[in-house]
Amino acid sequence: VSIVVVGAGGHGREVADVAEACGFVVAGFVDDGSPDVAPLERRGLALVDPDALDGLHPFVLGLGGGALRAAVADRLATVAWADPLVHPLASMGSDVELGVGTVVAAGARLTTNIRAGVHVYIGPNATIGHDTTLGDCATVLPGATVSGNVAIGAAATIGTGANVLQGLTVGEGATVGAGAVVTHDVPAGATVAGVPARPLG
Ligand SMILES: CC(C)(COP(=O)(O)OP(=O)(O)OC[C@H]1O[C@@H](n2cnc3c(N)ncnc32)[C@H](O)[C@@H]1OP(=O)(O)O)[C@@H](O)C(=O)NCCC(=O)NCCS
Repeated sequence: VSIVVVGAGGHGREVADVAEACGFVVAGFVDDGSPDVAPLERRGLALVDPDALDGLHPFVLGLGGGALRAAVADRLATVAWADPLVHPLASMGSDVELGVGTVVAAGARLTTNIRAGVHVYIGPNATIGHDTTLGDCATVLPGATVSGNVAIGAAATIGTGANVLQGLTVGEGATVGAGAVVTHDVPAGATVAGVPARPLG
């Protein structure tokens, strides 16, 4: 089965790797910017015209930013989104529900009773604890650790190597800096960083 990746940058190529590991053949990348095509060509792939493909292949978003994924998903309202892509080297516990277009990279571990919305990205070696929810287009970057009973809002970002302690809420569109330890709820739209995490600025 083939798939189209939207976004031909580094994140898109990583998502293509996940898709291939899941058994898909990547039909090509859609990108309306000017990505470096050399890394695509080295893997035998190219940019494709979405109008020529619509309806023929499922699409997946290969865009690192959650807000960008949300905007592009709105723009591409008529395409069929791929079922969740879970890398075979990710570990999935029981009672995990992922929305369409969600990508789980290699080494990620999701435990039990986890709900993720659509177009969520869970990066390599990230851990998501029990009873946690992730809103649409949320992003958990590599090596981040999300404890149990956490609520991550839509399009929020958990930076690489950050820790979110149990029972907390990270609001919609909020950003947790790389390496932060989150000990209090993070308001919607806020950016926090550091140990313990404090509002940046
Ligand atoms: C927190 C973050 C969102 C701030 O980004 P920003 O608003 O562009 O901030 P700046 O880079 O201008 O830095 C502002 C200040 O915060 C500090 N800072 C930035 N990120 C920090 C972090 N994660 N922890 C602690 N301090 C941080 C900077 O050193 C700088 O301090 P200074 O003014 O004393 O020099 C960003 O640095 C971050 O950590 N994003 C996570 C991204 C990530 O995980 N990427 C990995 C991709 S795989």
